[in-house]
Amino acid sequence: MTFKSSFSATRRDFLLGGAATLGVVAAGGLSMASATGRAGASENAGGAVNMPLRPGAAQASLVADPAYQTAVWAYNGIVPGPEIRVRQGQRLHTRLENALAQETTIHWHGIRVPNAMDGVPGLTQAAVKPGDSFDYVFDLPDAGTYWYHPHANTTEQLGRGLYGALIVEETDPLPVDRELVWMLDDWRLNESAAIDDGFNAMHDVGHAGRIGNVVTVNGVAPMGTAGDVPVRPGERIRLRLLNAANGRIFALDFDELAPMVIAMDGHPVTPHRNDTPLLLLGPGMRFDLVIDIPVSGKPSFAVTDRFYDGMENAIARLVPSGAPVRDHAPDGDLALKPNSLPEPDLGQAVKHDLIYSGGMMGDMILSQMIRSGHITPEKLSAMGMESAAGAGMGGMANMMRSMFGAGNIWAVNGRDPDRDGNGPLVTLTRGQTCHLTLMNATAWLHPIHLHGHAFRLLARNDAPVRHQPWLDTVLIEPGDRVEIAFVADNPGDWLIHCHILEHKVGGMSGVIRVL
Ligand code: C2O
Ligand code: CU
Repeated sequence: MTFKSSFSATRRDFLLGGAATLGVVAAGGLSMASATGRAGASENAGGAVNMPLRPGAAQASLVADPAYQTAVWAYNGIVPGPEIRVRQGQRLHTRLENALAQETTIHWHGIRVPNAMDGVPGLTQAAVKPGDSFDYVFDLPDAGTYWYHPHANTTEQLGRGLYGALIVEETDPLPVDRELVWMLDDWRLNESAAIDDGFNAMHDVGHAGRIGNVVTVNGVAPMGTAGDVPVRPGERIRLRLLNAANGRIFALDFDELAPMVIAMDGHPVTPHRNDTPLLLLGPGMRFDLVIDIPVSGKPSFAVTDRFYDGMENAIARLVPSGAPVRDHAPDGDLALKPNSLPEPDLGQAVKHDLIYSGGMMGDMILSQMIRSGHITPEKLSAMGMESAAGAGMGGMANMMRSMFGAGNIWAVNGRDPDRDGNGPLVTLTRGQTCHLTLMNATAWLHPIHLHGHAFRLLARNDAPVRHQPWLDTVLIEPGDRVEIAFVADNPGDWLIHCHILEHKVGGMSGVIRVL
């Protein structure tokens, strides 16, 4: 895989060099026991978990060097925000107290909440003004690995550090020796480790999003020993991975560890080894992995991001020490109990297409998909894209130009539904099965995220997908067609958008209405 990035090598080298010469302070952030995140949470008499969240200005030591402090925006003063842990079926009560100088909300990514709790300003609630508060109260129907983040001025609020993990524990958890939660992120920092203010830069919107120059795991750059995670030989580890970056896609290499995938986007999947040597984790996506540390063997195992050729990032190093906890890998079924999600009825499904177009060099891919017959002229004109359908490349260029003229870089079905006020992309009645084909007619990868529902990933380019996992975010490669299906059982207006946050700003967003 070869991808080019807008990554600034000089700034990165400066930071890496600076940290190396000044000596890196081990922060231990990667091996933090999951229980530490409970600070500030309380359980009330009815069994609900209370976790107030207060977004505001804070300082963070992202490069694990006290000489470099970064002014961030954080929940309760820490990056990531406090880890919220609840049991499946429990109720969560979060009072959002806005200590920022701008409006905010909280979105509970992947949680099937009632619409009024979904945190999308102007769609599901009014934005919470500085100094104001808002109460989020909802039950957690599904076990798994989820997260929370603002949905107002999202590029900047996430880019400055507002996000945290929300772990919903199974009533009958998988027996493991150790659980790790790694929230991956990247930051665009200048020479003094301050956050670059250029949010929503045109280049980022039209290309791969805001790619940072410093990668962090749980808010700490895993440079030198800051990335070391002490483990015991023979241990069984459950690793919950989340990608909270604005635009960066991670492609993780696990050395000789051969992890088993047991859940994707929170939901249990038939335990399996990854299909490809690298585990692809787009913005918004999660994986739960089981890793058995070999009883004997290498002195350490490196986890490395290899998405961009020639620019690999160290993520962590698992370092076994001490006596083995067992003399061979444990047996035992890794299958988690499925969440109770409504099964799509494909025979009765209503079918819709969403065609994503635009961005730099997108006209080539769009015209290829038209030439190959996957996007028909009828389909284009039905969606108001007849200029492209009728006039081939010339018409397409015109359409692109008129979109750019309107300030739109990306389009869904030929329009920017956020701006043109034409209402939802798709309207469904409650209980209907929706079979969606998502077509990426652009030159870029897009992690498309649906709110309020989990969907089954059925097929890519007509080939059935193994295990048909339940997801809330699906990564789609340039020119690919992905089929998903879900039961529209949650009434309300739900966003479906690209989780490369700069792409969403550029128009890659729309609404699915469930009546
Ligand atoms: Cu995690 Cu609409 O997003
Ligand atoms: Cu995108």
